Parts: sequence; C-alpha cells; structure tokens
Amino acid sequence: MLRVVVMVSGGGTNLQAIFDAVKDGRITNAQVVGVISNKKDAYALTRAEQAGIKTACVSPKDYAERAQFNEVLLAAVDSFAPDLVVLAGFLVILPELLIRSYKNRMINIHPSLIPSFCGKGFYGLKVHKEVLSRGCKVTGATVHFVDEGCDSGPILLQKAVEVVQGDTPEVLQRRVMEQAEWQILPRAIDLIANGKVEVKDGFAQILEKALV
Ligand code: GAR
Repeated sequence: MLRVVVMVSGGGTNLQAIFDAVKDGRITNAQVVGVISNKKDAYALTRAEQAGIKTACVSPKDYAERAQFNEVLLAAVDSFAPDLVVLAGFLVILPELLIRSYKNRMINIHPSLIPSFCGKGFYGLKVHKEVLSRGCKVTGATVHFVDEGCDSGPILLQKAVEVVQGDTPEVLQRRVMEQAEWQILPRAIDLIANGKVEVKDGFAQILEKALV
C-alpha cells in the first residue's frame, strides 16, 4: 500500500477527488495517511476530518523565521512516513530540503497546460484570468513531479479543456477542475501506486502496460 500525504491550502476539491477515487476503486494500492495544511481554516481540513484522516497544520505565520517553519513542515511530512507527497493546491513555497528529500516522490497539480501559464505568480484563479486575457481557446491541467524550480519538474499527465466564449475565471476554473484536475490527479496516484511510472533523465514515463 502506497502511503500518501496530501498537502493543501484551500477548499480541497482535489483532495475530495482523491478520497472519492480511493473509495470507488479508481485508485488502488494507495491510502491517504495524512493531510497537511498551511491554513487552519482551510475547508480541506474539514474534508479530511470527515474522512477520518489525520491532519496537521503548519503555518508560516506561527514562526518568526522561515527556517523554523521549514523545519517543522518537513518534520510534519516525515511523521507520516509517506511514499508519495501530493500537492493539491498547496500554495506555499516549499523548503528545498523537503523537495530534495522527496525527489521523484512528490507530485503537484497545476491548473494549466505547462509550460503555459505557470511559474512564479501563477496559481489558482490567477491562472484562469491570464488564460482568458490572452484569448486562449484551450487550456487544461498538468500533474508533474516536483523539482527545485517552480512548476518545472517532469510532466506526468496533462488534459486539455476547452475555453468557451463568455467564460469568467470562476466558470473556467470549475470546468478545468471537473474535466481535468479531478481526473488526472487520482489517475496519477493510481499509476504511481501500481508501479506504472518511471522518472528518468528528467522525464516521467508511463510504463507500456499502463497505456492499454
Ligand atoms: C486547484 O485548481 C489547483 O490546481 C490549484 O489550486 C486549486 C486548489 O483547489 N493549484 C495551483 O494553482 C498550484 N500552482 P482545491 O483546494 O479545491 O483542490
């Protein structure tokens, strides 16, 4: 059983998608063992509690020094002894030591087709605002492994979503979540849990038997 820790900052709809997929068998060989938030009032924590999953909250606001926060955050992740760390809307810059400790064992969901609309400053609703202001006709979501850069790690899965004339950022965000994020994030966890992903030379490959 792959031990999964999910890190969140907000509403936790992606976390919910993971819980639902474990329940209905779209994710096998994996269990969520802990949920970590940087925000005490994140609704994602309520979702975790309702699902009977252990939670931890580590907020940078509670520490005078960033180094202290980094240390406590790493200790919180380590305490769950995870095989995989999933960033599901975790909107905090990660400590380098955490990234190094979980190299090739940490994935992130990003609400665009990387390398478009990603990197510093591109998160949440802002991404969709930028997509609309550029007049894009297609957007989507990406699951990638986390490296030291910002949204720069090996891409594992992507799914395209149509932009519809008259979309607001909120409407587009919801469509990207429904049609892409809530599908590819559980799928990525299932693939990893079943040994169907290999990360090599900076590329994530789905092993052949998983493609059929
Ligand atoms: C999701 O859209 C996720 O892709 C995005 O935050 C949202 C969290 O929603 N993440 C990023 O923008 C990371 N750069 P949720 O809390 O309802 O899952």
